[in-house]
Amino acid sequence: MDLPVTAVGVDPATDLTPRRVLVTGGAGFIGSHVVARLMLMGSQVRVLDNFSTGRLENLADAVCGGLTDADVVSGDIRTPEGVEVIHQWQPDVVVHLAAQANAPVGRRSPLYDADVNVFGTANVLDACARGGVRLVVNAAGSAIFGSVPAHDLPVREDHPIAPVDPYGISKAAGVHYLDWYGRQHGLAYTSMVFGNVYGSRQEGGDYGVVSLMVDALLGGRQAVIYDDGTQTRDFIHVSDVAEAVAVACHHSGVGMVNIGSGQQTSINEVYDTVREASGADNTARYEPLPWPGEVRNMALDTRKARELLGWRPKLGFTEGVRMTVRDARRWQAGSRILSPVRALDQALTH
Ligand SMILES: NC(=O)c1ccc[n+]([C@@H]2O[C@H](COP(=O)([O-])OP(=O)(O)OC[C@H]3O[C@@H](n4cnc5c(N)ncnc54)[C@H](O)[C@@H]3O)[C@@H](O)[C@H]2O)c1
Repeated sequence: MDLPVTAVGVDPATDLTPRRVLVTGGAGFIGSHVVARLMLMGSQVRVLDNFSTGRLENLADAVCGGLTDADVVSGDIRTPEGVEVIHQWQPDVVVHLAAQANAPVGRRSPLYDADVNVFGTANVLDACARGGVRLVVNAAGSAIFGSVPAHDLPVREDHPIAPVDPYGISKAAGVHYLDWYGRQHGLAYTSMVFGNVYGSRQEGGDYGVVSLMVDALLGGRQAVIYDDGTQTRDFIHVSDVAEAVAVACHHSGVGMVNIGSGQQTSINEVYDTVREASGADNTARYEPLPWPGEVRNMALDTRKARELLGWRPKLGFTEGVRMTVRDARRWQAGSRILSPVRALDQALTH
């Protein structure tokens, strides 16, 4: 998708233009959009990724924008060698997106989830504090809030952190570590609490309800809705998220900040929107929740992002879903630009 080159909300009074930005998890769904967006805004960008869920193909836009094999570091955030790039390359901003990002995997493998999201995050932050990094932009998620009472929705950043599953717990730990590194070592940070991010290149397998439904309906299969489908989430398109991250890189740290639509959208509404956008006419299959204690409703209050970053979402949900369907069809048609990525792949493997 084409993105506008002018950043919304960049503060011209202070020159905080990031020269060098390291994006951990830059080959993933959100990371690949962030890398491409930062490059359009003129930053030199490097990716640190272990390719556990990330893919080189996701970096096609960035490669066309000038990303080279030297800019892609294959490494693990849990190891000293993995974060060595922070000491060697000396980025002024680190966008930390690398994570075990799949809540169902967190429930099945809480130790793996903690290893990547807690230990790996602490390892990245420690290297940032020692390496003189100006700013860390971190990815948290609405899962850190757990079940929020209806009268507190949309939820504000100062709401108590009370996660209800291993993924929420490990993401909350990252937020607490940032707070500690900030107080103890003066590490400036912006910790973005994303809503449910959707858009092209999302491949959850068993999470990411928009992409699961798009895949099912474009593939002629029945989509599955758990429970009665009236549960709600705050959906935000990945292009708006990439813009928020890029804008945050041009500011000082603002602490925790919500990045969402501010709206509750039910899973039934998601299904109706995807069905309309894809032109499919099959009905959904309702199944009982495979896990207990799911958060019922969620929406994020985004006033802080508007006030401090000048960011607000540009895409409505219907438009964002139509774009996701269009991009999925383009992917199926094999029209993505893969030749520069093949060259990068060869460079990395030889
Ligand atoms: N997708 C969402 O709806 C959502 C919502 C809230 C927060 N987030 C957060 O945003 C970030 C990006 O999520 P995403 O949806 O793009 O997921 P993703 O799985 O597509 O991206 C994660 C990336 O991190 C890499 N990675 C994983 N473990 C690593 C390790 N040990 N060392 C180095 N790299 C590693 C993966 O290969 C992948 O490229 C994550 O921190 C996630 O928790 C995502």
